[in-house]
Amino acid sequence: MIKAANLKKLFIEKFSQNPLIVRSPGRVNLIGEHTDYNEGLVLPAAINKNVYLAIAKNNTDKVRLYAIDLSDSFETTVDAIKKTDKLWPDYILGVIEQLQLNNYAINEGFDIAFSGDIPQGAGLSSSAALECATAFALSTLFELHINKLDIALLSQAAENQFVGVNCGLMDQFASVFGKEQHLVKLDCADYSYEYIPFKTSDIKILLLDTQVKHSLASSAYNERREQCEEGVRLISRHHPSVTSLRHATEEMLLKYVKPVDEIVYRRCSYVVAEIARLQLACEDLKKDDFKAFGQRMFETHEGLEKQYEVSCKELDLLVQLVKGNQYVLGARMMGGGFGGCTINLVKADKAEEVAQQVAAAYKEQTGIEIPYYIAEINSGTSIVDLTQASYGQV
Ligand code: GLA
Repeated sequence: MIKAANLKKLFIEKFSQNPLIVRSPGRVNLIGEHTDYNEGLVLPAAINKNVYLAIAKNNTDKVRLYAIDLSDSFETTVDAIKKTDKLWPDYILGVIEQLQLNNYAINEGFDIAFSGDIPQGAGLSSSAALECATAFALSTLFELHINKLDIALLSQAAENQFVGVNCGLMDQFASVFGKEQHLVKLDCADYSYEYIPFKTSDIKILLLDTQVKHSLASSAYNERREQCEEGVRLISRHHPSVTSLRHATEEMLLKYVKPVDEIVYRRCSYVVAEIARLQLACEDLKKDDFKAFGQRMFETHEGLEKQYEVSCKELDLLVQLVKGNQYVLGARMMGGGFGGCTINLVKADKAEEVAQQVAAAYKEQTGIEIPYYIAEINSGTSIVDLTQASYGQV
């Protein structure tokens, strides 16, 4: 990761143009996991880890990309956007393709260089941040005036159709719509949202990174999605108005899904409970009752582990290690699953201490040394103004 000022310098050295620089953050999700693609609710926040992307037109038809942290380049032309055999260019190319498919005129060449400090594979949505940075940078550069929701939706479509992961909207929405000291309560049924204040003076968000990413992550993700859709199909035969799990109830699941497919039932039952849990958790927040909120996080973890089955032994261990710790109010696996981080709500003055204790215990049991991050809640995708020093400093 380099500072934004250095990114500008490097870009000018490499491409001989003065770039526009944008920033797009990674995200955490407090509660509401695997609910976004079920028209449910989610409660993410953008964090102080970012992708920084520099861009300028180059007066040719070439698209030249440079991943600074990987020291790797890729080149193509604006009329020949297609999937590559390495993953990182696809996040950018997928967005270009979506813009073109939606009749936004991207018909001149440009150069991009990017860097970032969002750890990859940690479940903090580094790929969504790169997609949103690209969409916003191109919208600005080509004066397309794309609104924020469409930036998020185009980025999600790039991930679904180009990269091939059938994700929901949460990660891209959080990256674009993040607001300092606020959580974003997003209703994925109609994309309405509300900012919920999150007072971080007494509580810190501690992320403990398992350092594992099991290979079945994206295939299992798509499979879970299909199982949810199967549950909806079974119910909608009897209740045509049920078009997503948002409208399903546990009674319907017991009656129409459980007798047919026990596994599909367990998956759907978790989702229905999680959507309700998020609503209750928001009530806890209104009362500043972080203890109750934290308990719900533990419940979510249990559901993800036993019913939805997207956890893994490393994530379970990290949650186990903080259970009963008086300074930890809640903990659970976060994001798609099968690795990445746990999210922990911890008493602010004990966050470092807890992190070090857990890291030591984890190392003893697994032999793996783990990083941890104390996340601050950040604002969403923006242009970086290099005259203001607040961004680009790491
Ligand atoms: C990944 C996906 C999101 C969401 C979460 C699980 O992060 O990208 O859309 O489904 O998993 O909540």
